[in-house]
Formats: sequence, C-alpha cells, structure tokens
Amino acid sequence: MKTIIPSLAILIPVILISCQSKDDFNVVQGNFKIVERKLTAALQELGNSARNPRSLDKDGSPVLVQSWDWTSGFFPGCLWYMYEYSGAEKWRKAAHKFTMNVEPEKSNDTTHDMGFKMFCSFGNGYRLSGNLAYKDILLQSAKTLVTRFNPIVGCIRSWNHHEQVWQFPVIIDNMMNLELLFWATKISGDSSFYNVAVRHAETTLKNHFRKDNSSWHVLDYDTTNGAVLNRHTHQGTGHQSAWARGQAWGLYGFTMCYRETRKKLFLEHARKIADYILHHPNLPEDMVPYWDFDAPHIPDEPRDVSAAAIICSALYELSLHLEKQGKPYKIAADRILATLSTPAYLAGDNDNSKFLLMHAVGNMPDSVEVDVPVIYADYYFLEANIRKMKIDRGDYWLTMGGSNAVEFE
Ligand code: GLY
Repeated sequence: MKTIIPSLAILIPVILISCQSKDDFNVVQGNFKIVERKLTAALQELGNSARNPRSLDKDGSPVLVQSWDWTSGFFPGCLWYMYEYSGAEKWRKAAHKFTMNVEPEKSNDTTHDMGFKMFCSFGNGYRLSGNLAYKDILLQSAKTLVTRFNPIVGCIRSWNHHEQVWQFPVIIDNMMNLELLFWATKISGDSSFYNVAVRHAETTLKNHFRKDNSSWHVLDYDTTNGAVLNRHTHQGTGHQSAWARGQAWGLYGFTMCYRETRKKLFLEHARKIADYILHHPNLPEDMVPYWDFDAPHIPDEPRDVSAAAIICSALYELSLHLEKQGKPYKIAADRILATLSTPAYLAGDNDNSKFLLMHAVGNMPDSVEVDVPVIYADYYFLEANIRKMKIDRGDYWLTMGGSNAVEFE
C-alpha cells in the first residue's frame, strides 16, 4: 500500500500547542482520554467484524450494520479522528480495517447516503493518510452518487423507498452528501460534480425552507417539471414541525457549501439557520435540543444529542467564516461542547457500552432508537473536539484542507 506521510496535521500541533488556553485544552484532552478507552474497548469487542457499530438495541446489545446502512461510515470516521488526534499508527490500522468494510458502497446507486458512508470513512482516511486506493474509491463513489441527479428537479434523489408516497423525495439530510462531490471536482478537475452539488444546494435553499428559516424534512418533486408536490416529514413530529436533526443537517450543509464555493448566499443562509436554532424558545438551557423543536410534550420529550453534536461542529466552522461576527457562534459551540463533555451526556467507562454520547433519538415516529447512543452523534462530537482544538491553537485551515475552494461554473 502506498501512503503519503500526513503533512502538517501531525507537526503543527506541537508548534502551536502553547497558543491554547489551559481550560480549552483540558476539555478536548479530557474527552480524548475517554475516547481512547472507549474505542480500545470497541475494537476488542469487534475483533474482525465485517460489520460496523451503529447503536445499542433495547437489551443493550450492540447493533452492527452492513456497509449499505447509512451509518456504516461513522465508526471508521471516529477511528480516523482518534488517529488525527494521536498520530498513533495503531489507530490508522484500525481505521483502515473498518473503512474497508464500507468499500462495496462505492457502486451502490440505490440511495443518496454515499457522502455519509464514504466521506466520513474514506474521505477522512485520504485526508489523513494520502492512501491513493482511497482516492479511487472516493471518485467512484462520487460518480455513482451523481447518477441520482435529476436536472429537471435540480436535485439528487434521496430515497427509493415509499414510491407510493413520493415521486422524487429529497430530504434536508442530503446536503451532507455534497461534500464528496466538491472533493471529487477538486481532485479530478471535472467540474460536473461541483455543478451538481451547487445546483442541489441552490434548489434546496429555494424550496426547503420556511419563512422562519426552519426546514421541512422531505420535499417531493414532480420529475416532469420540477414543481414541489408536497412538503412532508418522515422523522419529525408533523409536516409543519422543525425536526431537530434536520435543522442540524441544514446548518452543517450550507456552512460546508460556503466553504467549498464562497457563495455568500450559502453563508447568509447558514447563519439564518444558526440563529433560528440558537434563539429558539424551545432550545433548552444546556443547548441539547429536544428531538423536534415542536415536539408536543416539551419539556417531557427526549433530547437528541446527535443534533447537538452536529450543530456544535457546524457552529465551529461557521464562526470562522463569519470572522469578527463569528464570535457568538464560537461561544455557542464551546457551550454545547462543554455540555456534551459532562457526565450527563458523555458516558463513563461502565455506561453506554462502547459508545460515547448518551441520549440520542434516531426515528421517534417509528419508535426506533429512542434515547439510545448512535454512532453519528459520536462522530460529530469527535469532529467538534478536533475543530475546537484546531481553532483554539490557530491552525484550522492549515490542517482541514478546507480553504482551497475553487470556482467552477
Ligand atoms: N439521514 C438519516 C437521519 O438523519 O436520521
């Protein structure tokens, strides 16, 4: 296997560590001590498993998934973040093994979840190790994903299921899959990936948001003329509600789209979503949202720690893009991270099996994964820790590879 030595990612921490305040450093350092123990225990339990962990079932047994599951890339992504933090070869090896479990997905054209699966696993792997085999797999994945784009609608189709309900469903979560396409254009020089990503984001911005800047979950499009047929929910409490994780996906997605395009419209929109979330009267004092901002029995509703982790990670990046105006968003991200780092949410060695964060909600209307750990909460929590560490010591753009947006029209 041909690898490239991780560039500045490993060296700069040593140089810049003194720029960091002691308290900030302690939060991230303390969290990674727990992460190291949890991931070590997870690897022992998993052995040579060809399946990756997703959650715990009702009796506390681990739920392991095959590569086709939308969450299959998050566990290898967690291992890559552990490698990024530690620089230790044993974590690269472990990350590689569980990343390769996901490889078959590169040609799975039956879903939009390609970015979740491949960019969190192979994408981080390529960024940190330079393994050229990962690059080919990622490019194949991007080619597969764009086959789901419909130019009349201007979007990538999300689901194939529920054909009797929706003609061409597009869910807000789909914004997260665009990062793979931006990467594919940068690496290949083929602007068609970029153009699909921008068109999808523009269509989503136009149709998916209400006047108050909250988003619907599922939009159904007419494939003959691109008209919106219905604005629905699938995982929220109602068609007019603000499903918490959906708001988080939108915030993260438009922040990332601004990074990759420098189109001001995307940045302004990300900020509006952030303001909707942060000023919402139903956002609890500790900033971990209820599973839906409009859940009917607030405050007696489960929280969704996965939404909090995604929002936290997104706010760190948003704060950088907004420069001087970004300070309140950095403060908010720090507050969320501090909350998530307390025993109320971050499990000790003997709780929550091998998962980090407690109290997530997967799909409340179907009573699936309610108040359990989910691997994507852990993934975005780790990403938020890494982002905080890099912002506080001043080397975020040097090590994230995110400042090199290229314009393709
Ligand atoms: N993309 C699936 C979810 O957020 O539940």
